[in-house]
Parts: sequence; structure tokens; C-alpha cells
Amino acid sequence: MSVFVAFEGGEGSGKSTQSKLLYERIIAEGFSSLLLHEPGGTSVGEEVRRILLAERGATGKKSSRSKNSTMNSLTELLLFSSARSELIEKVIKPNLEKDTIIICDRFIASTIAYQGYGRNINLDTVENIINVSTHGIKPDLTILLSVDPDKALDRVNSQLSLLDSVSNPVEKENPRLDVEGSRRFELESINFHKRVFQGYKEMSKDSSWLTIDATKSIDEIHNLIWDKIQMLIR
Ligand SMILES: Nc1ncnc2c1ncn2[C@@H]1O[C@H](COP(=O)(O)OP(=O)(O)OP(=O)(O)O)[C@@H](O)[C@H]1O
Ligand SMILES: [Mg+2]
Repeated sequence: MSVFVAFEGGEGSGKSTQSKLLYERIIAEGFSSLLLHEPGGTSVGEEVRRILLAERGATGKKSSRSKNSTMNSLTELLLFSSARSELIEKVIKPNLEKDTIIICDRFIASTIAYQGYGRNINLDTVENIINVSTHGIKPDLTILLSVDPDKALDRVNSQLSLLDSVSNPVEKENPRLDVEGSRRFELESINFHKRVFQGYKEMSKDSSWLTIDATKSIDEIHNLIWDKIQMLIR
């Protein structure tokens, strides 16, 4: 049977770092795994990702962000959900029947945290749309990389200024797997990020969640995650 693991947390909490490390560990230990990210992972999903980035905050410049902030929150919710519907039908569902560990860098909890708690869309509406787009498919385990938004945004900003000072284009590639994706929300107010974090804290009370202090070292976090995964696949 498959195991479906989602990574959640705010910008710069370490989701892409840890999902990649987990994927590599699973493969090295001789198991099968699939590393996915949202929005994306299908041709339609990647197109939707492009629209979401172009609409709000893609360039990382505040001026262009406000000029392009025309998308209403419900449209945003539906776009994320349409990308997810494709990912569920084309990739996740077919792999649920296989002996594989599916890892997704963000999943439904991001929608509840960002569009529900962050953008203040009614939580029942958000959950209804999630249910329609996923047919009720949920992760077996959701890992919350928990870090205060102030601290995480510092991490992201110091990384971005580091990037700006690097001239070698190879080094500029993929230091953060979804650097453009994250910039969509990076420019939101600190209060927005605090609401998102509050949303995650509420959801993490569920027994299918594992909360990890994301200020621990990358190795420490990876080892905690690997311990949990071993319990699930044993
Ligand atoms: N435990 C950690 N301690 C210190 N720095 C870390 C840790 N984990 C990740 N980082 C660094 O923080 C930055 C953000 O990490 P990463 O891209 O994995 O976060 P993310 O959650 O995927 O962010 P986003 O939501 O913006 O995609 C990277 O520079 C990464 O190397
Ligand atoms: Mg990331």
C-alpha cells in the first residue's frame, strides 16, 4: 500500500528542503517514492501555476505586485483547486494503489491556511471546494514545519539577497525548488502570515499531523521525519 505524506508550513519553513531530503532517503533505502509539489505536477497544473505567479507577486517587486493584484480570492482558490484536481486524477490516484511513498510539497492544508485563514474565505466554502477537487483524498501524514513567520521570512529574505549577489546563472538555478511560487505570498503583510500560521496550528491538532520545530537543524528535522516514516511503512 502507498503512504501519502504532505509537507506544510509557511514560506521558508523548509518544506522543499525536507521533502527532497525525504525523497532521497526513501530511494536510498530501496523504497519507491514520488516527489510532487503544488500547484503543479501536470501540464495543466504547471500552466495554472504560471497564471497564479503572473497575477500576483511573481516578480517580487512591490510595485508590479499591486499593479497585478487583480485576481479575487475566490478565483485564486479555484485555480489552486483546478491544479489539484489534475494532480489527483493524473498522478496521485493512480499511485495510491502502488507500493510507493507519495510526497507532496504543500497540499490541501495550504489552501485552508492561505485562502481560508489568510484571505478570510469562509472555511466551509474552502473545505467544500477541497472535497470536490480531491474526492476526499487526504494525506496519511501531514508534517508541519513550524516556525514563527517573522523568523521564516528573515530566512527567505537573506536567501533572496544572497541570490541577487550571485552572478553565476547555474548557482541561481533551483536553490529553492519553488522560489517563484513562494513569492506569490511572500509580499503579503506580516498579519497575513500570522493568520496562516494560526490556521496551521489549529489544523495540526489532528492526529494525522506531526509538528516539528522548524528552527532545529536540517539534519535533526530530517531524522525526526525519517523516524516517523519508518513507523508508517513498517
Ligand atoms: N532547518 C533549517 N535551518 C536553517 N535554514 C534552513 C532550514 N531548512 C531550510 N533552511 C533554509 O531556509 C531557506 C528556505 O527553505 P525551503 O526553500 O526549503 O523552504 P520552503 O518551506 O520550501 O519555502 P517556500 O514556502 O517559500 O517554498 C533555504 O535557504 C533553506 O536552505
Ligand atoms: Mg518550497
